Amino acid sequence: MHGYNKLVVWLLLLSSSSSYFGHGISASDVQCLKDLKQSLIDPNDILGKKSHRWNFTDIRDDGDICGFTGVECWNPNENRVLSLRLGNLGLEGPFPRGLELCTSMTTLDLSGNNFSGPLPEHISEQMPYVSFLDLSNNSFSGGIPASIMNMTYLNILALQHNQFTGEIPAINLSRLISFNVAKNSLFGPVPDSLQSFPTANFMGNPGLCGAPLDNKCKKRFRVRIHVRLVRIREMFVRIQKLLHRINDASIIGASAGFIFGFVVAFYFPHKFLFCGRFQPYTFRVCG
Ligand SMILES: *[C@@H]1O[C@H](CO)[C@@H](O)[C@H](O)[C@H]1NC(C)=O
Ligand SMILES: *[C@@H]1O[C@H](CO)[C@@H](O)[C@H](O)[C@H]1NC(C)=O
Ligand SMILES: *[C@@H]1O[C@H](CO)[C@@H](O)[C@H](O)[C@H]1NC(C)=O
Ligand SMILES: *[C@@H]1O[C@H](CO)[C@@H](O)[C@H](O)[C@H]1NC(C)=O
Ligand SMILES: *[C@@H]1O[C@H](CO)[C@@H](O)[C@H](O)[C@H]1NC(C)=O
Repeated sequence: MHGYNKLVVWLLLLSSSSSYFGHGISASDVQCLKDLKQSLIDPNDILGKKSHRWNFTDIRDDGDICGFTGVECWNPNENRVLSLRLGNLGLEGPFPRGLELCTSMTTLDLSGNNFSGPLPEHISEQMPYVSFLDLSNNSFSGGIPASIMNMTYLNILALQHNQFTGEIPAINLSRLISFNVAKNSLFGPVPDSLQSFPTANFMGNPGLCGAPLDNKCKKRFRVRIHVRLVRIREMFVRIQKLLHRINDASIIGASAGFIFGFVVAFYFPHKFLFCGRFQPYTFRVCG
């Protein structure tokens, strides 16, 4: 009986807390949607400057945001966002701001838009309770944030059809039942904890290796050399741009050649040493 009483008290507290604290929570969720709307580009006017769909002028009562396009609340009479489904609306811009204010959100679907730029590094702090995260079919770039490892409620993570780069972090979440990173620019080994997901969910990343994919991972240092080559290429392009401004063909040729040579020598000193039996002192460097 004691346990039962405790449960009843807990339920009573829970139900009254929403009316006690309801306004604080609601205000935060309204601000969440305001910030979100402000941070994204909406060429088709879906959320509306002209249309009235996301109009905050009349937000006075609890539940008013629950009728907005794509917004679902925990309870239709309370401004507390459960899910945000904004897929295939032609939205653009960086990863939206303000989502950390939707503190009870469990579903975020931004798929099939044209969002770009990196994901927030501390994404798990912005949406700690999200269980469904679909960012597929956008133009997101940069690395997959390691903090996703802290999103313990995650069931579904869809990152396919973007421009993510770098290695996949070792995400090991007990509730994760779907994981998809197909068609990105990821490279390096598939972490052990993710090898049970279907091969198709990793395809379209030429640099990825290891199970469940067919191509075996080469030795670790090759990955490092790959990273270095990419960096050297980036550096070279930057130098080229810089020199372009000088606008003198002879200077460009000579200094680009000199700097490229310098960079290569810096990263691959052994290429400039004679390897062989006749050079016992440099033999070790050449390995
Ligand atoms: C928002 O709603 C208010 C009141 O209903 C209305 O006067 C205003 O024109 C609306 N704004 C937009 C941008 O639709
Ligand atoms: C993403 O694009 C692919 C191919 O263009 C399509 O098959 C898939 O349904 C799209 N998914 C979403 C969530 O928009
Ligand atoms: C996506 O946005 C980029 C600019 O950020 C633009 O060049 C491109 O046309 C857009 N693509 C679509 C399908 O709207
Ligand atoms: C996960 O959360 C813990 C505690 O908040 C933090 O110390 C850790 O750095 C986080 N891990 C990642 C990968 O962000
Ligand atoms: C994932 O985590 C579980 C428990 O947290 C652990 O038992 C398991 O070995 C981990 N798997 C991998 C591949 O790291």
